[in-house]
Amino acid sequence: MTESDSITALAAERAWIEIDEGAIAHNIHALQSLLKPGTDLMAVVKANAYGHGAVLVATLAEALGVKFFGVATVPEGVELRQAGICGSILVMGAVQSRSQIEAIAHWHLEPTLCNLSQAEIFSKVLSAPLPVHLKIDTGMSRLGYPWQQGIDFIGQVRALHHLHIASIYSHLATADDPDPSFMKEQQARFDSVIERTRAAGIPIPALHIANSAGTLFSQALHYDRVRVGLSLYGIYPSSEFASVIDLKPVMQVRARIAQIKDLPQGIGVSYGHRYVTSKPCRIAIVSIGYADGVPRNLSNQMQVLVRGQVVAQLGVITMDQIVIDVTDIADAAVGDIVTLLGQDGGRQILAEAWSQLLDTIPYEIVCGFQQRLPRCGFRLRSTHTDR
Ligand SMILES: Cc1ncc(COP(=O)(O)O)c(C=O)c1O
Repeated sequence: MTESDSITALAAERAWIEIDEGAIAHNIHALQSLLKPGTDLMAVVKANAYGHGAVLVATLAEALGVKFFGVATVPEGVELRQAGICGSILVMGAVQSRSQIEAIAHWHLEPTLCNLSQAEIFSKVLSAPLPVHLKIDTGMSRLGYPWQQGIDFIGQVRALHHLHIASIYSHLATADDPDPSFMKEQQARFDSVIERTRAAGIPIPALHIANSAGTLFSQALHYDRVRVGLSLYGIYPSSEFASVIDLKPVMQVRARIAQIKDLPQGIGVSYGHRYVTSKPCRIAIVSIGYADGVPRNLSNQMQVLVRGQVVAQLGVITMDQIVIDVTDIADAAVGDIVTLLGQDGGRQILAEAWSQLLDTIPYEIVCGFQQRLPRCGFRLRSTHTDR
């Protein structure tokens, strides 16, 4: 065991994240079986694979045949290359400094170009051809060249030295909205850019526009590639898609009970005493807190699973610990595993339950679990292929 393995093992005695590799495999196969023939799946593994561990997820996805990966930053791409990922890695964020461009070329990453001055900097800095991806803003009003002049941008980039246009893409602003009208408008704008490109005699590279919601909404949005993040991790971009695809949640967050004690009625619990016992009760202190990724705003609202039973979290969530009520679990003991997200026995707590309580999106919940908790991969369920 290396020194870093033993530090990880020490950390995992307190709290950890389990990544269900069988669920990732299931989700990849389920997504692939929905794709239009000829469409490739790009695994979006930015933000440490939405908190799931980018190297772990990308390595598994590559072993399952995924050839395209999406990250937001150059360091995220470098991390994948250093871990041995061979597929194409699209950097979706904006990059224009010489050092970032040199790193992109060195690590065979593929940048997103959004405007002419950025493309010119790339062309000047590069000393060999590089695949680049042109982003067209069709209505998200974030990164990307305005669609109305998209054809000019494509023509200008083509004329620059060393830039090989590998794809043209856009991003949907409202793909999870029950009203698809704006999404269709974006698709029509994207198509009009492509039509004008074709009419100008410019060869059409790979095209992509769909995120998870777009992918699940319609094959008409699949083009040559789909860029899927959230659904890969077993989370529905909107509950309506549950009838379209069966996804399995991938992330399980667990921690251990560090101490148990009995409290009489009328005792304040945790900072500020925002919970006061209404009757004698038994509490357990669990070794996980907001510094690990548990949102503090769930204080006094969260439920967890202990020995397959649902129990309430009490008082304010602190940096390193939470307090739970184990009064009804007669045999609860120090060292017991507490499940914050995931399955225990027949019960399950989903990231969507937390995001609803917090009036946010499940993306923010899973992305909140970043560095402190060690991650381990395991296979809980059989994969699609051995069902
Ligand atoms: C440009 C781009 N494409 C694809 C995705 C993946 O989206 P989702 O996680 O909804 O599948 C994202 C995520 O935010 C993104 O920014």
